[in-house]
Amino acid sequence: MTRRIRIFDTTLRDGEQAAGVNLNLHEKVQIAQRLDAMRVDVIEAGFPAASDGDMEAVRAVARIARHAAVAGLARTRENDILRAFEALKGALRPRIHVFIATSPIHMEHKLKLSPREVLEEIRRGVTLARSLVEDVEFSAEDASRSEIPFLKEAFSLAIQCGATTLNIPDTVGYAEPSEFGQFVHSVMEAVGAGDSVTWSVHCHDDLGLAVANSLAAVMAGANQVECTVNGLGERAGNASLEEVVMALRTRRDLFKAETGISTPLLYPTSRLVSRLTGIPVPPNKAIVGDNAFAHESGIHQHGVLSKRETYEIMDPRDVGAPSSSLILGKHSGSHAFRERLNEMGYNLSEEDFKAAFKLFKDLCDRKKTVTDQDIEAIVADRLVTL
Ligand code: KIV
Ligand code: ZN
Repeated sequence: MTRRIRIFDTTLRDGEQAAGVNLNLHEKVQIAQRLDAMRVDVIEAGFPAASDGDMEAVRAVARIARHAAVAGLARTRENDILRAFEALKGALRPRIHVFIATSPIHMEHKLKLSPREVLEEIRRGVTLARSLVEDVEFSAEDASRSEIPFLKEAFSLAIQCGATTLNIPDTVGYAEPSEFGQFVHSVMEAVGAGDSVTWSVHCHDDLGLAVANSLAAVMAGANQVECTVNGLGERAGNASLEEVVMALRTRRDLFKAETGISTPLLYPTSRLVSRLTGIPVPPNKAIVGDNAFAHESGIHQHGVLSKRETYEIMDPRDVGAPSSSLILGKHSGSHAFRERLNEMGYNLSEEDFKAAFKLFKDLCDRKKTVTDQDIEAIVADRLVTL
């Protein structure tokens, strides 16, 4: 049986917390429209109590989302929850996302509250949110550094007060995949809510493990993943949406799960977010980087030319990326060079080809990549010197 995994996108909230990112209302609406078209299940549009700008952005996104639920983040404080409700009034599917930290270090040093007081906050916050909307998510911030018996109390109470989605964040990116999978399993088992609630995870990338941890949680039974486009977010960022989605899709055999995402919109959405945030996509970024479907070594190029799947596990068209490219450089071989000549309309005799290939290899020792103009010059040089 295939499980449906919900994709909760927090590009506009946690993604916007990335250093140096500040999206205006119009930019947020543009991104939200794209996310909605891509069929994410939830768009977290902002933290309405944080600023009037966030309030307006959540309000605007709430009005335009046709498919996705729209979430507004709130601490357990009354004012935060009322602001979130106010901002979400125009949404077809409003969700209030209430959070409070549950780890000993956060409770003692940040909140300065005892565990009993934190439970009281959860009771008040979740009850109020649920009196306003049907769809309430509760997050136990810094869950991965919290104690399981306390999490059991916190989540059970949140469910009792009306939360329908329970989120287990790895707030500081401290978890390791096999440990996190086990942790998620133990929390779910301890709470014992069965299928009556949605279990979610929200992983940060401080150790570069956010995607791996999210996938381990899916294996353990989580059915919502919180992520951002291009993995944007606080510090080293969040789990990257495109990587989570394509890992689940490409390894369907393993995860036995699917998302509702329209994957050909992954690449255009990544570029839109990069342009509007000013944060470039690294060339070697999985799925959406410029080099994700580029091949330079002669052996790989020969393989791809014979059968694409020899060195590609995904079809670039499935993620909306430009078709695979063969980069001509010093590692390239004659197959790729001949292919490019043919694409450019040259059909050289075997003798001309050998001479041109020699000129190409000589040039590669002087230049990192060879362009079409270089090839034109090589062919012209060969033809002129015949
Ligand atoms: O990282 C985190 O714990 C969060 C929560 C608010 C879900 O962003
Ligand atoms: Zn976060």
